[in-house]
Amino acid sequence: MCGIVGYVGPRDCSEVLVSALSKLEYRGYDSAGIAVFEDDKIKVAKSKGRLLDLVDKMKKEGRPCGHAGIGHTRWATHGEPSDVNSHPHSGKRVTLVHNGIIENYKEIKQFLIDNDRTFLSDTDTEVVAQLLDFYYDGNPIKTIHKVLREVRGSFALGIVFADHPGTVYATRCESPLIVGQGLGECFIASDVPAIIQYTKDYYLLEHDEIAVLKNGTVSFCDLHGRHIEKDLKTADWDPDSAEKGGYEHYMIKEIHEQPTSIKTTISPRIENGMPDLSECGITPQMLKGYRQIYIVACGTAMHAGMVGKYVIEKLARVPVIVDIASEFRYREPLINEDDLVIIISQSGETADSKAALELSKELGAKTLAIVNGKGSSIARAAEMVIYTHAGPEIAVASTKAYMVQISVMYLLAFEMAYANGKITEEECAKLTKSLMSTPDYIEKTIEDLIDDCQYISTKLITADSLMYIGRGLDYALSMEGSLKLKEISYIHSEAYAAGELKHGTISLITDGMPVIAVVTQNTLMEKTVSNIKEVKARGAMTIIVCDQYANIEGDVADYVIRVPQIDEILMPMVGIVPLQLLAYYTSVNRGNDVDKPRNLAKSVTVE
Ligand code: G6P
Repeated sequence: MCGIVGYVGPRDCSEVLVSALSKLEYRGYDSAGIAVFEDDKIKVAKSKGRLLDLVDKMKKEGRPCGHAGIGHTRWATHGEPSDVNSHPHSGKRVTLVHNGIIENYKEIKQFLIDNDRTFLSDTDTEVVAQLLDFYYDGNPIKTIHKVLREVRGSFALGIVFADHPGTVYATRCESPLIVGQGLGECFIASDVPAIIQYTKDYYLLEHDEIAVLKNGTVSFCDLHGRHIEKDLKTADWDPDSAEKGGYEHYMIKEIHEQPTSIKTTISPRIENGMPDLSECGITPQMLKGYRQIYIVACGTAMHAGMVGKYVIEKLARVPVIVDIASEFRYREPLINEDDLVIIISQSGETADSKAALELSKELGAKTLAIVNGKGSSIARAAEMVIYTHAGPEIAVASTKAYMVQISVMYLLAFEMAYANGKITEEECAKLTKSLMSTPDYIEKTIEDLIDDCQYISTKLITADSLMYIGRGLDYALSMEGSLKLKEISYIHSEAYAAGELKHGTISLITDGMPVIAVVTQNTLMEKTVSNIKEVKARGAMTIIVCDQYANIEGDVADYVIRVPQIDEILMPMVGIVPLQLLAYYTSVNRGNDVDKPRNLAKSVTVE
């Protein structure tokens, strides 16, 4: 994972690098560092801990002053988080920052040790710095080329050479990297939010291309030094959307942004009251006739796929298998050209999801990506793409990205069902209309439930473990609710299909253990209520999430959280809100770092 940045221009480089890194901390935050040309010499400052620890250190020890440099925020893969393992890493004449993994670093390290090189850190990154230095003959491009032929893995690199003061070089393979161009200044970054406060104009660096940032402008070449012309892109993100905007945390801000994100995502895909994905180049013809559909993703995106499974199967009557990307890719999946594989990813850069997509293509399946990251690797590799328009999601715990992912799953299911002749035009239009009305209901749900959820979360903060139960779509929601709580509160929790509890897991229920039951599907209500009674009878403290009219007897629930009643199939869109809020306030009440939970990172670009 990790985030890298670079700058060449008239501003105070250290300040720009720190500010840009602060927008990339979601990629990793166990150490940070920068290297800046000061009086034509490379000066490095780095520190274990958050970016703020680096800032504190630089306040005490002085910070590099200059106008060109590189920076890094880390999520440790090789070597524990420590000052010495923090990036940048250096050879004698070369200093670099790296995002990704060098798979053959051990062989290269041995080769360098055999050639009298010594190493300071345990990282794979230092090996690249030393190898560059080993081959360096005064020609950066030639040397980068030589090294790229020898290293294997995924990487984005920002490199400075001591004898080329004021110049930053960048290259990549697999890991993402963009190059920003402002007025008389230029940038590199792992992601757009890092630079958006300075410029909206950027280039996407492709595999094996080299960017040379010098005198405030950027030029591109291939590994042989041949010049490349590239198209400048413009980010459509508002710089404010990557700020907290008065909220205490990004997570709560992003929860509030959900209604707008849905509108922005679905509106361009609805024509005359019917779903219409032609804006994404997808015709109804392209969505019909599949033997089976695989939805493959990781984490929260996979949970959005679970909602998609229920909805597509119910409406379009096509079998859907949801798979975890890291499992799918190694199980020799039984797919062929009659199948559709849908990859869901917020970042569009998740290593396992990317590999699952490539494998699906190799096996001949049609591929469709639902992605938030514009121009990301997954978006570029898939045959069909539906972008979600959530804008930048900064909090590690995903909320608005999940919400727009499920809203796209609905649109897709409606259009597929209609294309497959499983629902009438009238039914399709009715469902689409209901979907269009969800943002208002979600807004109301957030407003109405904040106080309740804040209060109920105080009942969860001392729990050692809790359980989420539900059936059908409510089970899909339970999985996401449980993950959300685990990620940021550090309380163990498990999501279980309500009917399966009695086959083993009910033995975990002890006096006072919180059980959150999601009961938004009226057709399954009676069955789930019986399961709630079973846990209640064994001492559980029950919290029920249901619609405003649900008839819940007083002795079944300790707390009832009511959400608006909308079309039953769309209930996940309002049902997830209290689960997000409960997780958020539990984390806040336990004094955790909500937006940057321990051990996690938002963009997982390693296996
Ligand atoms: C990480 C994040 C999760 C996210 C998952 C998949 O684990 O912490 O929030 O759901 O990666 O990421 P993607 O970018 O592919 O949606």
